[in-house]
Amino acid sequence: MFKSTLAAAVMVLAGSQFALSADYTMRLSHGDNESNPTHLTAVKFKELVEQYTDNKVEVQIYPNNSLGAETEVAQSLRMGSVEAEILYTGNLMPLAPSAGVLMLPYAYKSTEQAHKAMDALLEPLNERITQEAGVRALGLMEKGFRVLTTNKPVETLEDLKGLKIRVSPNDIAIQTFKSWGIEPIPMDWAEVFPALQQRVIDGQENPYTTAISSRFYEVQSDITEIHYMMWTGPLIVSERVFQSYPDDIKEAVVKAGREAVDYGRQVSAEKTEEAIAELKERGVNLHGAPKDEEKWQAAAQALWPNFYDQIGGAEWANQAVDIIKSSAN
Ligand code: MLT
Repeated sequence: MFKSTLAAAVMVLAGSQFALSADYTMRLSHGDNESNPTHLTAVKFKELVEQYTDNKVEVQIYPNNSLGAETEVAQSLRMGSVEAEILYTGNLMPLAPSAGVLMLPYAYKSTEQAHKAMDALLEPLNERITQEAGVRALGLMEKGFRVLTTNKPVETLEDLKGLKIRVSPNDIAIQTFKSWGIEPIPMDWAEVFPALQQRVIDGQENPYTTAISSRFYEVQSDITEIHYMMWTGPLIVSERVFQSYPDDIKEAVVKAGREAVDYGRQVSAEKTEEAIAELKERGVNLHGAPKDEEKWQAAAQALWPNFYDQIGGAEWANQAVDIIKSSAN
């Protein structure tokens, strides 16, 4: 009697143990710290995936590039050895050139237009990047327009001359800054804060929220809204892993991804407002747009056709540019 009760109890315990453990583990990597909108998006994605799959999928978040630099991790997604990532589009481009259409300078006049364009680009982009890089974007996150932080006021192109500005190691960013008459310094993200601190560089460009989460206000005095590009970042999953899921899990993951990205965009907008207020309080000089903004725009927009070869070819670039332009209506 006792034996059979014990055996039954062991079976119940073993059963509940089994019920508690997930069928799938999804490791999600990103390069920002826990106060950045990227991380908050990752946390929302985890919550939603686990909810929509009845905990059959467990999402484990690895912030601060703890699984490796963004491009390296994207390579692991191709192999299926890491399952998910949120990364800066510029860092996906080496593997998935077609994603570069999201980085054409001065493509968007407003955040609303950018959202419309990005949502319309998602599926045609997926047809390409699943082939190019073995990854699928569940949605395209954005953290606002990139602004220029410096250690002296920059209100015109003339003021930019002679400054050592760090850009991400991405040809579109490099060529854009060259068109403004300077030699930018491509540098990995992890090196940026110490380089600003040691005055190896005079400035960098990233969204307002990054100036707060990365404490750039400690080493930078001025911000100019050059607004030439948005920080866009796909929430990607390994195509190999995704295709191995049963249909119900696939649907749940897609739905969670879309909703998490919408949430991330909303959080970014709120955090951008908070960041602007905090930067002002901390004494950073916010200059708004450059006084000669049209010169910055004209120089950078003239470069678009030069980028077409490196962003998947003229046919795709023209298709994407049509989508971007029609989203302005
Ligand atoms: C960069 O400038 O390298 C990126 O925008 C950093 C980031 O991903 O937040």
